[in-house]
Amino acid sequence: MKPQLEFTGRDTAARREILMTRSYWRFLIAGAAIASMAGLALPAMAAPPSDWSAVPTRTVKLFYPGQSSYDWLLSSEHKRADKKVAEGDACTKCHEDEETDLGNTLVSGERLEPAPIEGKNGTIDLATQVAYDAENAYFRFQWKTHMDRPGQMHDYIRFDGEKWVFMGGPRSSEKVRSGEEPALYEDRLAIMVDDGSVQNFAAQGCWLSCHNGMRDMPDEAGADAVKAHALLGDAGLKEKDVRKYLPVSRTDMPPSWDKTKSAEEIAKIKVAGGFVDLMQWRAARSNAIGMADDGYVLEYRLSDDGKGPFGWNVDRKTMTPKYMFDASKVGMKSLTVADIGDTGKPFAMINGENAAPYDPNAGWKEGDVLPGRLLSRADAKGSAADNGDVKGSWKDGMWTVVFTRRLNTGHPEDDKILEVGKAYTFGFAVHDDNVTTRFHHVAFPLSIGFGAKGDIEATKVN
Ligand code: HEC
Repeated sequence: MKPQLEFTGRDTAARREILMTRSYWRFLIAGAAIASMAGLALPAMAAPPSDWSAVPTRTVKLFYPGQSSYDWLLSSEHKRADKKVAEGDACTKCHEDEETDLGNTLVSGERLEPAPIEGKNGTIDLATQVAYDAENAYFRFQWKTHMDRPGQMHDYIRFDGEKWVFMGGPRSSEKVRSGEEPALYEDRLAIMVDDGSVQNFAAQGCWLSCHNGMRDMPDEAGADAVKAHALLGDAGLKEKDVRKYLPVSRTDMPPSWDKTKSAEEIAKIKVAGGFVDLMQWRAARSNAIGMADDGYVLEYRLSDDGKGPFGWNVDRKTMTPKYMFDASKVGMKSLTVADIGDTGKPFAMINGENAAPYDPNAGWKEGDVLPGRLLSRADAKGSAADNGDVKGSWKDGMWTVVFTRRLNTGHPEDDKILEVGKAYTFGFAVHDDNVTTRFHHVAFPLSIGFGAKGDIEATKVN
């Protein structure tokens, strides 16, 4: 409907209609302004392409990286390449088209993987399409899963006849390897973005964030040591383990987990944009409410400001659930052990949708199972809730994830703001088949241009 702005006739009905049309447009424009001020996606105009077939597909080869930490890359074991990596050379300068060889060598345990997972694939083909309009970047990813079902069950708790206990875990854990617990861990797709502010990220990508001392890496830091650390531990971030960090946040090289710069110095680096944006689509903890989480990497892997899509559905001290399923809505108050893997059953506890307050006297039986996580779209807020239009569906052995990311999230303090006419460095990773930490598949970094040159040139839509 186009507003008719000129009125010449005398017919009052026509005049009224035109005035109504005008006010309708004013209403729409005001609505759009309010929506964009409130940080909501604009209606109708800005939407993912309805037909993706017009957007070219680039197959990004993800490969298994094992324990190829930045420390290892800078060591003499990385044959004569250590100095080149220190100088900032790109991985692909020497490893172009070697993803399949690297992945197969490392996943087998031949090199840099002390605890291989049997039967795991060395590579994953990530079919990637990118589009954009004036508001958003749109990504469509497709990949085949190793399992013949979606990995969307995560942090479950089981009633053992007396109390609730955690159930399952990632394939790398001892209790799953030994068969004591089932493999239960969500599938994930991670996206890292930099705008050129992080030194060497365009050449070396996520390896800059991967170090000895981290979880499941060589010389893993113990909980006591981390808790005692002034910046990362009880007096600071309150962490018990070490996760991703960038070299710029440390005082030595290779950057040790405990040699952090001061909080003031790190705050300055953050204000200057010296962090990497990290968004994760999670098959269990975000997909059920159409979201992805939003974080960044600098001195640690941190969540953006605000509240993300998920929290706990269990008090971890008393192991008391907060919610059970609302039987009037989903036909059951809980799952059972036998329902694991049954995609016809509810798999996520969603506040305000399928959850009812936990009733300790509901006649719990041994083998009853509840999700230990609680999802909520309504409670998500701030920069951590930026990714509110991300939808994944699993069919015939394949995930298809359509990810909308506002070009300008309005949160430059912990996001990379994208601009039309520029290119950015992206790193992609997939956690497939009940794994976490290093047991993922990763890509060498690539550039994506939005109305600009890049390894991938995003297609303009809308
Ligand atoms: C100057 C060339 C050069 C650069 C730059 C380089 N590498 Fe290497 N890389 C090598 C060589 C040579 C080997 C040893 C291959 C062998 O022993 O067969 C190697 C081995 C590896 C291996 C062990 C796999 C194996 O089969 O031995 C990994 C993993 C690896 N590089 C990752 C990377 C990453 C990630 C980067 C970027 C941060 C990188 N490399 C940058 C030359 C390079």
